[in-house]
Amino acid sequence: MSPVGSVPRFAALARKPLVLATAGLLTLLLVAGMGYFSLRASESQASSLHSLRPDDPQALRVGARIYAQQCAACHGARGEGQPDWRERGPDGLLPAPPHDASGHTWHHPDEQLFAITKQGLARLIKQPDYRTAMPVYDGVLNDDEIVAVLSWIKAQWPPEVRQRHDAINVEYRKSLSR
Ligand code: HEC
Repeated sequence: MSPVGSVPRFAALARKPLVLATAGLLTLLLVAGMGYFSLRASESQASSLHSLRPDDPQALRVGARIYAQQCAACHGARGEGQPDWRERGPDGLLPAPPHDASGHTWHHPDEQLFAITKQGLARLIKQPDYRTAMPVYDGVLNDDEIVAVLSWIKAQWPPEVRQRHDAINVEYRKSLSR
């Protein structure tokens, strides 16, 4: 037997346990990975429930400041919106709607308000080409700041509108668990 011929045979033998070990490791990683992702999926489902905190003074302090800096220019200092907000302007875009009780912000559950503000309307309605003046705040405000500013908006609503909005949240969350 020439040593030249035996080298590849030996190498192949030596590689076999390595291949087995690698396959074993890969299976382990795959299983662990699947577990990790399903954990992440349930986590992100839970954390996608961004509940507003209209009774939390700290959130309202932060929210009031952010509203004045980021939202008031379009939605109005007191959430009154822009004039004729139901009619598209000459640019084809809708003006900013009110956030007070006269608008329809309160018709949306917390999660939708959060998604509109963070990811934008186009994402929410799944129309990537939807043209709107409403900015996307992902990367501008963090999640806590978005919750804070929306909490401040909710805190401005009269008690009966807040109660109706609470009921909308309850219905929406029920619909998610169905
Ligand atoms: C440059 C103007 C502008 C700024 C600044 C702005 N928005 Fe808007 N926003 C709009 C417009 C315009 C719409 C309506 C969009 C449409 O339907 O095309 C809108 C819609 C919304 C809606 C949906 C309301 C509904 O009834 O469906 C929410 C929620 C919202 N804005 C939150 C905010 C928050 C919170 C801020 C500040 C962090 C903010 N916006 C800043 C222009 C603005």
